Amino acid sequence: MISRLSTDLHEDIGKILIDEATLAARISELGAQISADYSGKDLMLVGILKGCTLFLADLVRAITVPLSFDFVAVSSYGADTKSSGVVRILKDLDESVESKHVLVVEDIVDTGLTLRLSYLLENLRSRRAASVKVCTLLDKPSRRRVDVTVDYRGFQVEDQFVVGYGLDYQGRYRSLPYVGVLKPEVYGGG
Ligand code: IMP
Ligand code: MG
Repeated sequence: MISRLSTDLHEDIGKILIDEATLAARISELGAQISADYSGKDLMLVGILKGCTLFLADLVRAITVPLSFDFVAVSSYGADTKSSGVVRILKDLDESVESKHVLVVEDIVDTGLTLRLSYLLENLRSRRAASVKVCTLLDKPSRRRVDVTVDYRGFQVEDQFVVGYGLDYQGRYRSLPYVGVLKPEVYGGG
């Protein structure tokens, strides 16, 4: 439950960590790097819903080589999935990845469990993608519990819960144009 409903999302933000201009500048660098690396290759971006959406929308506009994109949705590893250690793919790709150079796009790699337990990368490789790499807007390496290779990273963040620019707290705050941290009272209590 959200303890306090404000009419202005911005009022719930205690601190802006990465502002719009900084996001835009870094994403244009990532786009240039990806464009150079995938020149002449059949590039397909695979976004993991829903957090990737704002990042992916800006990233594709910063990439100059031809590309296609598609989305997957995966279940989270809540208490119910802990025993099985499996994250299910809830929405699969519409398009084939065969012989495509796949770049998986994430909002944030935190523990790494979503990518590991979903076997998404292995799954894409088994479908004969030409290559499978990972691009994440944010990386929280201090929280990593399993090894995940991040090939492209927008920003490294400290061990704190962030929202905005696609990232949510209980379904909210994805629409904020920057990445920030919530005021403590928003989490309940105050
Ligand atoms: P992981 O499986 O622990 O690597 O986390 C992956 C997912 O957890 C991300 O795609 C987010 O949906 C969510 N997540 C992890 N850290 C944060 C955060 O700081 N803010 C919002 N969502 C987060
Ligand atoms: Mg997510």
